[in-house]
Amino acid sequence: MSFLNNTDNPEVLVGLETGDDAGVWDLGGGRALVSTVDFITPVVNDARTWGRIAAANSLSDVYAMGGKPLFGLNLVAWNNDELPTELLSEVLQGGLDVAEQAGMAIIGGHSISDPEPKYGMAVTGEVNTDHLLTNAGLQDGQDLILTKPLGIGVITTAIKAGKVDKDSLQAAVNSMEQLNDVASQVAVAAGVTGATDVTGFGLLGHLGKMVKASGVNAELHVDQIPFLPAARQYAEDGIVPGGTRRNLAWIEDQVDAGSFGEIELLLLADAQTSGGLVFGVDKDKSADVCAELEELGVVAALIGETGAGDGKISLR
Ligand code: CO
Ligand code: CO
Repeated sequence: MSFLNNTDNPEVLVGLETGDDAGVWDLGGGRALVSTVDFITPVVNDARTWGRIAAANSLSDVYAMGGKPLFGLNLVAWNNDELPTELLSEVLQGGLDVAEQAGMAIIGGHSISDPEPKYGMAVTGEVNTDHLLTNAGLQDGQDLILTKPLGIGVITTAIKAGKVDKDSLQAAVNSMEQLNDVASQVAVAAGVTGATDVTGFGLLGHLGKMVKASGVNAELHVDQIPFLPAARQYAEDGIVPGGTRRNLAWIEDQVDAGSFGEIELLLLADAQTSGGLVFGVDKDKSADVCAELEELGVVAALIGETGAGDGKISLR
């Protein structure tokens, strides 16, 4: 998709060109604002849980840029004819749970009437311009680390089809509710410059943007990539969201799949809600970074590496 833009302004440090997670506006003196907006349709049946997931998903783009969220504005689309306002209060309470956990204020919002409910936030954060994480910041010869398992799109599709088992649902909810704050802080402290969060375009789609913007290639070690329990089984049963299939069709020319088949490719392209971060870290630091993340309760999978190139991904 291409957008009209007017980002010649010198204060715009990150605009639309690199497909980054959030816009970044220079305030001078090493400080910058990070601004992003995200909202989603329900992914689980429990209203407060959905509120928490939507809020965590909205905050994620600030963390993906190395920033700290300052405040948010609620965005609500609500079916006033069919859904009680008590249920909306539950959704908003979920958002507040997450805002408190993140140390962020909610200072306003806007709602409209809509047959299909939607919830999310516009979030403003702050970032130190020396520690900005961007899509274009990967370097040749780094290890790639992923901080949440894949398979959210497949599992949430199973939820909608009424086919999910209890354990898979709980694992997916726990993963979606987890903030990317710790992962972001550990990445920044390790001197990382290239990072993004894995969301709607899936790992292949988001990594594909990064390797192009950074001018490197990536090699993924497929057997090292973590998946949610049952994600593979559901994918083999054909429970795959339309977005995941579109992702794969869109990225396929950029990917050398080696000996891997359609199920692996679909799982690697799976559209995530509130997914983890993927970032490149210098090889002499990657073991320490993984150990620190694990100690802090974050999944830390060393999933591959970067090399010289012009934006290709190969699977090994
Ligand atoms: Co993002
Ligand atoms: Co986003």
